[in-house]
Amino acid sequence: MQLTDHEKAMLDGREGPAVQKAMDLLMRYGEALGAERLVETNNVCATITATTPFQRDIALKGGGMDAVFSEFSLDSAEVVQVPKFKTFTNHLQLGFDPNQPERFGLSEEIVQFYERSERHVAGLGANILNTCTPYQVGNVPTRGEHCAWMESSAVIYCNSVLGARTNTEGRESCGAAMLTGRIPDWGYHLDAPRRGTHVVELEVEVESVQDWGLLGYYIGELVQERVPVVHSRRGIARVPNLPRLKHFGAAASSSGGVEMYHIVGVTPEAFTLEQALGGNKPAEVLRYGEAERRATYEKINATGKDAEIQYVMLGCPHYTIEQIREAAELIEGRKVHPSCELWIFTPRAIKSVADRNGYTRIIEDAGGILMTDSCSAMSRAVPKGTRTVALDSAKQAHYLPAILGVQAWFGTTAQCIDAACTGRWNGGYA
Ligand code: F3S
Repeated sequence: MQLTDHEKAMLDGREGPAVQKAMDLLMRYGEALGAERLVETNNVCATITATTPFQRDIALKGGGMDAVFSEFSLDSAEVVQVPKFKTFTNHLQLGFDPNQPERFGLSEEIVQFYERSERHVAGLGANILNTCTPYQVGNVPTRGEHCAWMESSAVIYCNSVLGARTNTEGRESCGAAMLTGRIPDWGYHLDAPRRGTHVVELEVEVESVQDWGLLGYYIGELVQERVPVVHSRRGIARVPNLPRLKHFGAAASSSGGVEMYHIVGVTPEAFTLEQALGGNKPAEVLRYGEAERRATYEKINATGKDAEIQYVMLGCPHYTIEQIREAAELIEGRKVHPSCELWIFTPRAIKSVADRNGYTRIIEDAGGILMTDSCSAMSRAVPKGTRTVALDSAKQAHYLPAILGVQAWFGTTAQCIDAACTGRWNGGYA
């Protein structure tokens, strides 16, 4: 790879051993990818804190939090002292909500260790956003901005909706980016890989959050890691808002590995179909009509058999304030059924708005819980005795049965709230 003089100096150790390790990692990573150079970034979103007993043991062996960062964020067995981060750095979600440790089966010791690590990385300059949706709470990169982000649902939003540029990075490459302000100039940082490869012609209106989740799931399964272009000859009747695009992207990146899509007339690199394709001849033109939507619905609900529901989980990806308000309105004056639990996940910053607006109180009065920092798939935590869950997220419906062996019903938010209050799944294809 070609390096600038500044990059060579970092690699030579002139900014200390941690930056040298970071550059060494980026060189190995970039060369494996076939990158010709590094690109400057000032926007990193990654998991940085320490949350597991294994990480605690590493910290306790000597070296403290530097040992954890060296091993997990720099791929270095040698412990190096970690300086302040150079870039605008944001911590993503963790494996639990530290305010609800008992629900995640955590000891007080682990919570205290986590809090120590949170203070440590905050001291190095990381913003403790604790969410898979950093774009909702203070990190909204601009079009063309080069980023280094982890978390598939955030990456696809960053590339497609915001027009910023990132690959799906790992903890180590993000750790290196924080210390150097560099990431390999490869994949979605370049123009050509961002162009559409497949066209999806809409033959039905796609309007609700559920509609967009179904469409994303359908597309991801068929195009896998390619770049779909959603097109409607009649034009998209109702411009999808943040929750719709969030659910669409999360579904496409879980049934497939989509990191970038275009919606003609909606997303920033797709004013026209021609612009979205950028001269590519589509590998395939897929048609999405009522039959495809119905079949996708059946597929996502394939594990749902029993009508009794023990758990309703909302907030994958983390709920917007608008979605919390909707859930609060749906449940106000009702009660969660004694045989069921309702957990709703959102970023800490949005929860504080929900607290002030009274939505948290409405949800809690009904017997639900508004949580932050994690989700059931990430934490592998569900209420005791859960056999069947109800979800309004195609992504979570994809993962929970596979991770925990539970049955999952996927439906609208209203159907899920109804399931929470009756303990039964009364949903169905709307
Ligand atoms: Fe976020 Fe968990 Fe869904 S991390 S995208 S809520 S699987």
